[in-house]
Amino acid sequence: MNKKELFNSIAKNYDRINDAISLYNHRFFRKKAINRIDKNSPKKILDLCCGTGDICRLLSKKYPDAKIIGVDFSANMLEIARKRLPDIEFIEHDIHILPFCNETFDICTISFGLRNVDDLQKVIKEIHRVLKPDGIFLNLDLGKPNKFWNIFLKPYMYVIVPILGKFANGSGLPLKYFVHSNETFPAPDKLKEIYSDFGLIQIQRFDYLFGQISCQICKKIMKNALE
Ligand SMILES: C[S@@+](CC[C@H](N)C(=O)[O-])C[C@H]1O[C@@H](n2cnc3c(N)ncnc32)[C@H](O)[C@@H]1O
Repeated sequence: MNKKELFNSIAKNYDRINDAISLYNHRFFRKKAINRIDKNSPKKILDLCCGTGDICRLLSKKYPDAKIIGVDFSANMLEIARKRLPDIEFIEHDIHILPFCNETFDICTISFGLRNVDDLQKVIKEIHRVLKPDGIFLNLDLGKPNKFWNIFLKPYMYVIVPILGKFANGSGLPLKYFVHSNETFPAPDKLKEIYSDFGLIQIQRFDYLFGQISCQICKKIMKNALE
């Protein structure tokens, strides 16, 4: 099963799985993260890997006058998002190549999405391209928890999460993928370097749950300003 098929297969239960594995905490982190964005009157906002639309919904509450676009390659995720949020535009597309002109968006967000992409650098480069100068990029994802928290977290991730996933989904496969992707995804300190290589300068970082969840907010600077 490739990644697109995997996300299509869990779409129907995705929100339930999120509630189960995070013990309902994911709603809190998402809200906190979006509230941290400091940008006045953005006209266009892009949410990548938008899934069933949670982040788009929060963005539309915070910025009711902005045009918000969600992009995801899973048709099944988008079907749910469109039903929930009929006023938001959703586009089915792979985020490695974004179907937008240069400097289109004031804000670009991605939540629990970067970890899944095949070519992180390519995606960051695309985000930089479609953001306006001074545009804001926000990434919310799993971070690297401190050693103390890991003592509790490892058994939770490897034993409890797959059990919860089986209840929510009927199959342990997507949750095994989730645990694996958490191990291979770069730590927030490394992400900061990658962002910077592509002209996205980290201006804020917030960690929750002793580093288990991390939110980084960057500002786009023009490439030649780096040289
Ligand atoms: C873990 S879900 C996160 C969904 C949502 N952002 C959230 O916070 O709940 C990851 C999403 O990324 C999408 N995705 C993964 N790789 C993608 C890619 N290369 N292009 C577009 N969407 C992708 C999946 O279809 C899925 O909806």
